[in-house]
Formats: sequence, structure tokens, C-alpha cells
Amino acid sequence: MTCYTQVDDFFPLRFLTAQDSEWDTYQPQLLEWIQNYKKENEEGRQISNRNGAWQSEDKIYDIESFDPFMQKIWSFTQSALLDYTNGLHPDEKASEVFYKGLRLHNMWINVNPKGSYNTQHIHGGCLLSGILWVQVPENSGDLTVANPQEFQMCYYSECHKTFTPQEGVLAIFPSHVPHGVEVNNNDKERISIAMNFGF
Ligand SMILES: [Fe+2]
Repeated sequence: MTCYTQVDDFFPLRFLTAQDSEWDTYQPQLLEWIQNYKKENEEGRQISNRNGAWQSEDKIYDIESFDPFMQKIWSFTQSALLDYTNGLHPDEKASEVFYKGLRLHNMWINVNPKGSYNTQHIHGGCLLSGILWVQVPENSGDLTVANPQEFQMCYYSECHKTFTPQEGVLAIFPSHVPHGVEVNNNDKERISIAMNFGF
């Protein structure tokens, strides 16, 4: 006979979404820049992108003409990172130290035309990852997020979450969380900017 039982649900997964209030002031120009850049760099690279999905080379912030967009994106991203790290540790100072230590590791562009998708993957070697959605027509593919605790009894707890993206929204989540992108069923391209952070 059990004389003592305690059930705890430890370690929730922190997933942040934030909307850029300045988004409308630079989205059309950013979209145009991405489309022009893609035309000049059609080859791209293949990682999780499948069936015609295009991914830019890494570290797009090294391209000088991207500077005006980088300033806007980085200012928005920093405020989202501050919100993400807030309360991570009971000691406020510890959360602040974590936030201040975070560095941008890399950043790249994803363009998914109709029929394309991204297989489930993780972003190894970093702590946090971000996705900024630039253009998301209807039914262009939800983000799928898998429970990283593979051993868990998923019958009772959720194994997967899906997130329908919105333009101008940035998501931030731990880099070790498996995620993917569903098939784009719209004639218009689904476009996002992905990034990684760490120490
Ligand atoms: Fe990813």
C-alpha cells in the first residue's frame, strides 16, 4: 500500500511569441530585398529544406545592404530576448546576466514555395533559436514543435504543438526542441528569417 504519493510536472517549455510594432514600416522593403537576394543566389543551401524550399547562406547580416533591416530586426529581437529571459531564474540578476551574455550566432532566410516544407530538426550548438515570419499566406505551413522529452508518455501529455505563424511575429524557443514546417499549400511563398543565440 502506498503511504505517500507526490506527482510533480517539472520543466515546462518556454516558447515566446512577440509582434514587432514597427513591422509595417519595413516589411515591404524587406520582402523586396529578400526576393532580389534570392534571384541572385538561387543555389542556396540544403539543410532541413525539402521539395523546392530555398535557404540562404548563413550570416546574412554580413551583407552590407541588409544593414537597415538588421538594425530594425535586432532591436526588436533584443527586446523579445529580454522578455524571454525575464524570470528564468528566481534571482533577477541571474536572468539579467543570462540575457546580457547572449550573442547572435547566425541568421538565414527561408523561402518555401508551394509544395515545400522543412523536416523536423534541432539547432545544435546553441541555446535559443528564433524565427521571424516575413510573409505567411494562408495554409502555407504551420510550425510544428515536438516535446523534447521523448520518454514521456505522450498519450497523457502533448507530444506535438502546432503554431500558425503571423507576419511580423518572432518566436523564441530552446534550440534543442525538435521542430519542422508543414507543407505550403498556398501559391504564394512562405518566407521567414531564422536565427540562433548562445554564449
Ligand atoms: Fe529550424
